[in-house]
Amino acid sequence: MWGGRFEGGPAAVMAEINASIPFDKRMWRQDIRGSRAHVAMLGARKIIDADAANRIGDGLATIEADFAANGVPVDVALEDIHMTVETRLAALLGPDAGRLHTARSRNDQVATDFRLWVRDAIDGHLNAIRALAAVLAMRALQHNETVLPGFTHLQVAQPVTLGHHLLAYVEMLKRDFGRFADARARLNECPLGAAALAGTGFPIDRAATAQALGFDRPTANSLDSVSDRDFALEYLTSATQTALHLSRLAEEIILWASQPFGWVKLPDQWSTGSSIMPQKRNPDAAELVRGHSGRILGLMTGLMVTMKGLPLAYSKDMQDDKEPVFEAHDLLELSLAAMAGMLETLTFVPARMRAAAASGYSTATDLADWLVREAGVPFREAHHITGRAVKAAEEAGTQLDELSLETLQAIDSRINAGIFDVLSVEASVSSRTSPGGTAPVRVRAAAEAALKEIQTWG
Ligand code: ARG
Repeated sequence: MWGGRFEGGPAAVMAEINASIPFDKRMWRQDIRGSRAHVAMLGARKIIDADAANRIGDGLATIEADFAANGVPVDVALEDIHMTVETRLAALLGPDAGRLHTARSRNDQVATDFRLWVRDAIDGHLNAIRALAAVLAMRALQHNETVLPGFTHLQVAQPVTLGHHLLAYVEMLKRDFGRFADARARLNECPLGAAALAGTGFPIDRAATAQALGFDRPTANSLDSVSDRDFALEYLTSATQTALHLSRLAEEIILWASQPFGWVKLPDQWSTGSSIMPQKRNPDAAELVRGHSGRILGLMTGLMVTMKGLPLAYSKDMQDDKEPVFEAHDLLELSLAAMAGMLETLTFVPARMRAAAASGYSTATDLADWLVREAGVPFREAHHITGRAVKAAEEAGTQLDELSLETLQAIDSRINAGIFDVLSVEASVSSRTSPGGTAPVRVRAAAEAALKEIQTWG
């Protein structure tokens, strides 16, 4: 391909280190699509004659069908997917195949292919995020009244509803969706026509190729076009943030499935056994989602570091952009699917959640709030009185709502029997009707709204 001034072939290791075909073959559909758009434009602009353009177009269609049926051949001597396709085209058409690369370089070609690939990858993730969010909202609706402890510092803080907890993740996924959608909008410009780095003297029609490939417009600067990998980095940062959210949810599933909690039971399809301990039922998928998030973060970091010192325009370092993106994609795709599958099928154990929610004097704030509301006590003083009630319960080895009225009145005479209306965990969550709060009525409305809204994400 660039043999004109070279006498010997490359050393075997040179060929191997130089080759990207083992991994960039994954972009074969995008590569052929880009070439078909390019050659149609060359023909339309009479940069090559119409007959050659048609024959090249047909040849590319033949190659596409062949690769679809038989896979992409890997020959490191052909370096990359671009040369693999072009060589196959030459075998089909002879010297006319060489007209395809008029007014183009592999630099704008690879930038175009990779943008198309990342765009498809994002579309897949957007669907998967939507699906997972819908599963979470559905489960939230089923469990709008189920009470579990809300934690701060992983210490029981206040009772919350399970639906509320699950909807917190829907909010995260909504932001993840938005980040991917933003990244998609920003990447949707076509670098084709930047050629090697400076543009071309041929009268190309960049608007036509951009449109044919579904881009919003051509990129504005030829140097930036071939050197920019922001779209890959934005893809990876969006993937990292999504993976991080999945990891937090996975961690909760792992914790909740553990015997001391016993808040969820994973079904057989989402559990694994142990080769030595027959009683085990392990949450491996959740653990791997948690683990994968670390790898995705590492892949993002890796490409950031690859890019940080590169002068304009193209450097071969940039060939290292694809594997981290492909790997992150596969890990995130699996993680999203696994989380949706687990969340859809796991069983929550409300009785154990409720028992835990009632522990740790989780309704102490409700007692303080009652003193403020019903007896006009300043909050700071109410906090103090409640602390004494908690101490009394601790000493008696009871829950707050098991203290007698006499005991409570001995702590503060303004307390009356009305206090028992607010000390249960159900009363506590039901009272939290502030917008965005955990009350079952709020959660039902929020889950219903989320289910509707998720359909409109796009
Ligand atoms: N395989 C190359 C890559 O992925 C294609 C671009 C090659 N360009 C070049 N100037 N050698 O980056």
